[in-house]
Amino acid sequence: MTTDTPHPPQIDTSKAHPARVYDWLLGGKDNYPVDEALGEKLPPQARAAARQNRQFMHRAAAWAAAQGMDQFLDIGTGIPTQPNLHQIVQRTVPTAKVVYTDNDPIVLRHAEALLISHPEGATDYIQADVRQPEAILERARAVLDFDRPIVLSLIALMHFIPDEQDAHGIVRDLVATLPSGSLLVLSHAASDIYSELAAEVTAQYAKGGITLGFRTRPEVARFFDGLDLVDPGLTTAPEWFKTPPAPEPELCGVYTAVARIP
Ligand SMILES: C[S@@+](CC[C@H](N)C(=O)[O-])C[C@H]1O[C@@H](n2cnc3c(N)ncnc32)[C@H](O)[C@@H]1O
Repeated sequence: MTTDTPHPPQIDTSKAHPARVYDWLLGGKDNYPVDEALGEKLPPQARAAARQNRQFMHRAAAWAAAQGMDQFLDIGTGIPTQPNLHQIVQRTVPTAKVVYTDNDPIVLRHAEALLISHPEGATDYIQADVRQPEAILERARAVLDFDRPIVLSLIALMHFIPDEQDAHGIVRDLVATLPSGSLLVLSHAASDIYSELAAEVTAQYAKGGITLGFRTRPEVARFFDGLDLVDPGLTTAPEWFKTPPAPEPELCGVYTAVARIP
């Protein structure tokens, strides 16, 4: 496990943090009153969106493993929630290697749960920020072979990175390091589905000190420029599935897609 600093960063319980609010939305216990207070102010659709997003991750990771993919770089991992990505993919590919990354100290505190790999595979955790991709890549190279296809998963992460911080450029640069045959798996909150609710969620997070930048469908589609979208393309989370039975149809304000790197 690697961290940016010799001393693990402190957990700040005076303000809400994205990983902890998301944990609360999923019904987890690894959050603080300040996170719960923000979660309580969100419309009920926010909980549904967290669940739908997580279920997309399950389906996309399982499908990637079924394609034989055995290397995963997951950035914006979140607080461990069973099943975690490595547990899903190692069911199919026990030798799979998974490198997790998050910038929130609470994820570091709970990282042990991410490190219990199938004995034939491997997992690692990097405490780092997606806005410093070089630091992530340098450490990930110690575990993953960048000459072979890798699945880059950015699940419900990039709406925390505004355009001013070059969200699309960050993803483009990460993708550029991956060999042909790699996959980009990405989910992202929508600003143009449930627009009023999206604005309300953004305003409540802002009051809690967290900047969100939900995006429109064309803006999310830009993350996949130059890549080959895997069927069913860019959809809402419950619409993305490969293997029947289809998820229950339901409205959802989260865009999802998987794309192959040519
Ligand atoms: C909504 S949670 C999603 C967790 C998990 N990927 C999932 O979808 O179930 C977003 C995660 O991104 C992390 N995050 C936010 N900004 C980040 C950044 N700049 N660098 C790395 N991680 C970040 C948060 O700490 C949080 O754990």
